[in-house]
Formats: sequence, C-alpha cells, structure tokens
Amino acid sequence: MQIIDHLEIERQNRFVEQIRLDHKSHHPPGTNPGIRYAIRTYGCQLNENDSEKLAGQLHQMGFLPAETISDADLIILNTCSVRENADNRLFGNLGRLKQRKKENPDLIIAICGCKMKQAEHVERIKRSYPFVNLVFGPQDIHKLPEMLYTCLHHQEKLYSVGDQDTLVEGLPILRSRKFRALISIMYGCNNYCTYCIVPYTRGRERSRQPAEVLAEVRAVVADGYQEIMLLGQNVNSYGKDLENRSGQPADFAELLAAVAETGIYRIRFMTSHPKDISNRLLEAIAQYKNIEPHLHLPIQSGSNRILERMNRHYSREQFIEIVRRARTLRPGLTISTDIIVGFPGEQEDDFAQTLDLMNIVRFDSAFTFQYSQRPGTPAAEMPDQIPAAVISERFMRLLELQNRHSLESNQAMIGRRVEVLVEGASQTDTAILSGRTACNKLINFRIPDLNMLPQSYRLKNNQPNGCALEGRLAKVHLCRAKTFSIEGEMEMLLL
Ligand code: 5AD
Ligand code: SF4
Repeated sequence: MQIIDHLEIERQNRFVEQIRLDHKSHHPPGTNPGIRYAIRTYGCQLNENDSEKLAGQLHQMGFLPAETISDADLIILNTCSVRENADNRLFGNLGRLKQRKKENPDLIIAICGCKMKQAEHVERIKRSYPFVNLVFGPQDIHKLPEMLYTCLHHQEKLYSVGDQDTLVEGLPILRSRKFRALISIMYGCNNYCTYCIVPYTRGRERSRQPAEVLAEVRAVVADGYQEIMLLGQNVNSYGKDLENRSGQPADFAELLAAVAETGIYRIRFMTSHPKDISNRLLEAIAQYKNIEPHLHLPIQSGSNRILERMNRHYSREQFIEIVRRARTLRPGLTISTDIIVGFPGEQEDDFAQTLDLMNIVRFDSAFTFQYSQRPGTPAAEMPDQIPAAVISERFMRLLELQNRHSLESNQAMIGRRVEVLVEGASQTDTAILSGRTACNKLINFRIPDLNMLPQSYRLKNNQPNGCALEGRLAKVHLCRAKTFSIEGEMEMLLL
C-alpha cells in the first residue's frame, strides 16, 4: 500500500497553482470565463464520495461547475463495475459525447472509476473512443492536477490507471449534498465474494487512521451537517489492518462509538458484511441514539449451499440470529439487504430458501439484483450458469414478495410522528418535501399551512423553498404507506 502524504499533496498543489496561473494568463482580468466542469457519477456512494474529491480539486484549480453538461469544458465520467445499468450507460454516453467533441475540439473528456481498473474497458476506449483525453482509476484521484496539467499543456492523451493501492489524506472536498456528509473510513475489500469485481477494482482493504476520520467528522459537524454516512465496502472489518494504538478506536464498533460521542445528530454507515458483525457493534447501536436504528445487511442468498459457493462465510441460521439480536437490542431497527437471483447453480429449491428466509426476516427494503457474469471473477467461470429467462422469472417472484414486505413495513409506521431530515423538494411537485427518518424510511410530506415556515424558507410563489430546507429537521405525521415511501404532513419545523 502506498500512503499518499502531505508531500505528495503539496507536489500536486504546485500543478494546481500552475493551472490557475496559466488560465489567468490566457484570459486578461475581467474576461476570464472560468473553465466549467461536469462530473457524472455512476454506482455507489463510495464513487459519489470520490467525485466530491475530484470536485474539490477542480474547485482549487479555479474551475466552476457547469450548469448543464453541454456548457462544460471538462467532463468527467466516474464509472462503476457493479451495477449492470451503470455498465451499459457508460458506452452509450461516450457515443453521444463523440458528437460534442466534434463541435468543440477543446473539450476535455476524462473517464475514471472502478471500470477503468478492468483492462478490457480501457482497451475498448482506446480502440473505439480515441477522443477521450484522460483515463485513470480509483487509486489515482489525488493525481488529478498533474494529469490535467499534462493534458492541457502537452495536448496529450493519458491512460494512467495506477496499480498500487493508495490511502490519501488531505484532499480538498466539495460536498454534493447539504443534508449528509459522506465520509469514507476505508477503501478496498478482501472478501472475494465469487460474483464480485470490487476486490479487483478497488484493491486490498485499507483503513484510514481513526484520528483522521474523527477530524473529518468534527469538521463537518462544525460546518453544520446533521447527518454523516460512514462508508466502506465492508465497514465491519475497519481497523484490521491498523496497528493497535492504545487510546485509539481499534475496530468499527469503537470508531462508531467515538463518532457518536462527537454529538452529531445522525450517523449512518454502510455496508456491513454479516460475517463480521460483532456483538459490540450491535451494543454500540443500542447504546447511542444518534446511530441510525438501521442496518444494511446484504444476505445475497437464503440457501447455505449458494452462500458457500458465493464465499460469504455465514449461514442462513447465523444471519437470522444476527437479525434477531439486532432487533432485540434496538427495538424499531429496520433492516435492508441486497439479494442476488440466479447465481450459478441456483436450483429452484435454493431460490425457495431465499424466499423462505425473506418471510422469516421480513426485510424493510431490499436492493435486488439479477446475477450477471463479471469477467475475471470465479463465478463467471462456473459451469452451471442459469438461463436468463429463469433468472428473470425468479426475479419477478422475489420482487413481488419484497414489495409486499416493504409495503407492510411502511404500513406499520402509519399514525406515528417522526423526525425527518429534509433532502429537498420533490422533482414532480415542489409543494412536497422529501427526507428520511432515522430508520431510513423515505418520507414525502406536505406543509398544511405555509405560515408554519419562517419567511426565509418560503419562495415568492408561496411554495416551500426546498433548497433552503435541505438539511433541516421536520416533525412529520405519517398518513399513507406506499411500497417505496410514506406520505405525511408536517407538524412543525424543528431546526
Ligand atoms: N451480479 C449481480 N449482482 C451483483 N452484485 C455484486 N456483483 C454482482 C453480480 N456479478 C450486487 C451484490 C452487492 C451489490 C452492491 O451488488 O448484491 O451486494
Ligand atoms: Fe464485493 Fe463481497 Fe467485497 Fe461486498 S464484501 S465488495 S460483495 S467482495
């Protein structure tokens, strides 16, 4: 592992300064239109957090966000290898960008993210999309100033995907949300689930020093954030690679407790691997009320035979026991999960076991996936691949069951008064605000009387100002359950 320390960041800062100076010299004072950038992020929150670090560096270089992608002088596509749509969307988007590049040859197009760690995709870009200026990987984010400098100055194409696992501190960050600060606590994954590409694209597990994490938490609290989300592919193995220093949090349970002690209003975290859930973690969730009463706990399959082939290292019985303990220790805790349908060798009986486990656990919500082969993973080589038609038929049955459970879980909330952290106005109806409860339920609510809002939270057309309300807390009475959300009415703005 390569630790990227302040010396390397200082070296990068020299490129930042150079880009700022060059840009000024191109544009006499007062005429500088500012280089505009657009970043498109695919996939998970870890990618979103990486994009925030790219934006932070671009901001330092004096770049400004473009209003729309057509106004951008620099476009960065931050790709994902896990979600199938994200896979297909990239090359579709690149096709469209080809035309834009013809119209504006100065446009810089950069592609980064997990997908660029797969050589076949980089080869495809070289071959079919030669107008792309810059390709780099998740471990190269801190080198953006140097890489851009090379592109701008030498008009070079740069394919610069680093192989070494890096741990970077001290990068500037421009956060994309006002209500939630994303904080990565570790990078990479050592688990090698047989279907998953992540260990190959994000490298080995490496944890940030607890002091660095806590400093970032304190900084976002000082910035007024109510909610943070601690991120890692498997947060439960946090700290395994760190030297144990006395007085410092040594594992995820201790880190979580230390974060809770900072007094932040709400802490979320994901993702938890069931094999590493400790009693101490569940006890911390029970002890600190500012830790969300919610666990994202991917089961993947309810069949022990399939779990073994997936290399998951837990059984359905152990999973059920974790859920039971978690719910006992923190009443009201919700559980979400990831489930894959149609893993190689999955028989009807294995699938029935998954449905059975869902009926026992009753997940409050689930991300459901149809198995898809990822080249380079062991499962992709397994001989007993399941036909697509069988997968999609099973998938529909699974979805139907989960939708029923999700609706029932939402129905159980009706009549309650809950605290909702506002995320903004609904895109289809600006009179409706949305946000989430501590237990991660999506709530869409109306404000029965606009006089309940101080003037600064109202727009001229007498609608709530969704932007200003982002990150505020509202007390909401829950009225009507839907499958993926609950409708309610605001009773009071809390803060
Ligand atoms: N096929 C289908 N789903 C997958 N996931 C990861 N790899 C694959 C794959 N090859 C799902 C898992 C994981 C989630 C982020 O994506 O359920 O938890
Ligand atoms: Fe992939 Fe498994 Fe690691 Fe999650 S724990 S990122 S599914 S290998």
